[in-house]
Amino acid sequence: MGNEPSVLELDLPLLDTTGLDRAESIVVAAELSEAHWLARTDLGVAVLRYRDVTAVLRDRRFHSALSRLPLGPMDAESGLSRRPSILSAEGDEHTRLRRLVSPAFTPSAANRHRPTMRRVATSLLDAIVDTGRCDFIADICEPYPIPIICEVLGAPASDWRLFSDWATDIFKIFNGNLEEDHPAIERASKELDAYVAALVEERRASLGADLLSDLITAEEEGDRLSVDELCMLVRAVLMAGTDTTRNQLGCAMALLAQHPDQWALLAGDPQSLVPRAVEETMRYLGAVRATVRIASCDVVYNDVLFPAGVAVTANLAAANRDLGVFETPERFDITAERAAEQLTFGSGIHRCLGAALARAELQEALTVLAESLETVTLAEPPTWKPPRFGIWGPASLAIDFTIRVPRVDP
Ligand code: HEM
Repeated sequence: MGNEPSVLELDLPLLDTTGLDRAESIVVAAELSEAHWLARTDLGVAVLRYRDVTAVLRDRRFHSALSRLPLGPMDAESGLSRRPSILSAEGDEHTRLRRLVSPAFTPSAANRHRPTMRRVATSLLDAIVDTGRCDFIADICEPYPIPIICEVLGAPASDWRLFSDWATDIFKIFNGNLEEDHPAIERASKELDAYVAALVEERRASLGADLLSDLITAEEEGDRLSVDELCMLVRAVLMAGTDTTRNQLGCAMALLAQHPDQWALLAGDPQSLVPRAVEETMRYLGAVRATVRIASCDVVYNDVLFPAGVAVTANLAAANRDLGVFETPERFDITAERAAEQLTFGSGIHRCLGAALARAELQEALTVLAESLETVTLAEPPTWKPPRFGIWGPASLAIDFTIRVPRVDP
């Protein structure tokens, strides 16, 4: 480390997205990235290009900013988490957890649940199919992930309402109103933990083909997950895996309804185009726009000093439009062969653990829809959640559709 200039002293362009909607702010960030790889934001600084976003996320000296949020049951006095979550753990602790749990999150583990995903998507579509119009968010996206997560975990499907309510309360952590929401978050966390502890006992007696059974039996060199860690992981799956998936499905459908030519292509050949449509919708309009890192020590990267404690936003959405990586990145095209993987699942040690599961959920839902709906158009312009939301998508999405006759049975 020598005389590198501090990032705090550089004269950087300002990434100001005040008053812009999310789609506009992605364009502004992508344009800014052509001029400079760094920008100043109200949080600190942001990296905007594909190469730098992946480099920062893969650099273990930058720690997850989630370590600043109470992601576990909280200590009444300090208000801080008593137990680290996989989302915020770093170093050896994170490596150990990730090593133990990764085999339970492979594509083949996710594929076991495709029939259920298909069944849930079909039953949600059946409920609205005769109307020719629906609010895609309330009717399909909101209810879709929870029964699937129940099955993934091996919890009875009839308990989905309990999970849904716990997820809603635990998500209040992100609402910026901890003082008021603390009791509800704490209550939901405790109830979920008690439920999971009982489920672990049950599963120990009779293992099944589900995530919890996989996690209970996960073992490496004699090391196992404790009941406490199993509770933390179920909480992480519930928190990281429900709102993300439903918002991403909403973003995908909004894009496809805004581009009827792309829907026609998809409906014409769902089997070959659905996987690419999922990747392209995630690249073009990701439900997670960015993730924040904190320099755990003085870090020199690209001849710039990031002093310990500085917050660095890895702007996934801008990187997904990087002109140096993607040809015509501003074009939404589900047939395009893209030169690199989209970054909406992140990168590095915290890269989405549920990526295979999320991909399967999105692919199965889009397959059911594309096999059944001949045309999809916007009935009204979509309304969107506030751009500041960490997990973001349409608030409402009124679509008109026509049915393919005869419908393809699942
Ligand atoms: C389309 C849906 C999804 C998106 C866009 C998404 C996005 C992400 C991103 C960007 C990260 C990294 C965060 C960071 O680096 O700070 C992440 C981490 C994570 N995701 Fe997902 N996710 C999705 C679905 C899921 C699902 C279905 C699950 C559950 C099985 C899940 C479980 C997790 C977990 C446990 C982590 C933390 C991993 C770690 O810290 O080691 N996600 N996700």
